[in-house]
Amino acid sequence: MKFFVDTADVAEIQDLAATGLVDGVTTNPSLAAKTGRDFIEIVKEICEIVPGPVSAEVVATETDGMLRQGRALRKIAPNVTIKLPLTPDGLRACKTLSDEGTMVNVTLCFSAAQAILAAKAGAAFVSPFVGRLDDIGHEGMDLISDIVAIYSNYPAFKTEVLVASVRHPMHVVEAGRLGADVVTLPPKVLRQLYAHPLTDKGLAAFLSDWEKTGQTIPEE
Ligand code: E4P
Repeated sequence: MKFFVDTADVAEIQDLAATGLVDGVTTNPSLAAKTGRDFIEIVKEICEIVPGPVSAEVVATETDGMLRQGRALRKIAPNVTIKLPLTPDGLRACKTLSDEGTMVNVTLCFSAAQAILAAKAGAAFVSPFVGRLDDIGHEGMDLISDIVAIYSNYPAFKTEVLVASVRHPMHVVEAGRLGADVVTLPPKVLRQLYAHPLTDKGLAAFLSDWEKTGQTIPEE
């Protein structure tokens, strides 16, 4: 199960990459806008920190513009993955860029039917947004279950299921249970994965008992 970090904040990515658990990064125009920084600079810096796929999203809405932006963005670094919206234009651009050997992440996927289209268009990743489905009273993880089941019926589909719009650790656990390939995590959720009160309590007890022995463990 791969972990991507869902942020455009370079300092956060630097910090989390040091854990050794980060396999890639996803950004989107809203996350980029939040930084107030130059987008190209951000993507360049992220690609230097994380060697895995770094998603950079186009903002053109027609195929030709998407292709022009995608071709410019992929020049930033070899690990740039072009993020395209799940629209007819986006999928046409996906097919072309994928045929050119560029990794494409098809974003804003909200149905299994859309995920089938993304796979047929040759996407490297499809991003179903579970949190936003939960927000409107649907069960976001049901969509992951459907997509994983459908893709497994067709070994020719090479598209990886990238669980996006993750809001809490149980989304991650459920994604793992369902066999999703990737989860993209807001930094806060990645940090929450470590937390358990019994870990803290147990460690405090171990350390306090050890202190009573008066011993030290040698260090090299
Ligand atoms: C995915 O690549 C998106 O950037 C992201 O997961 C969207 O999450 P949100 O619904 O919390 O904005």
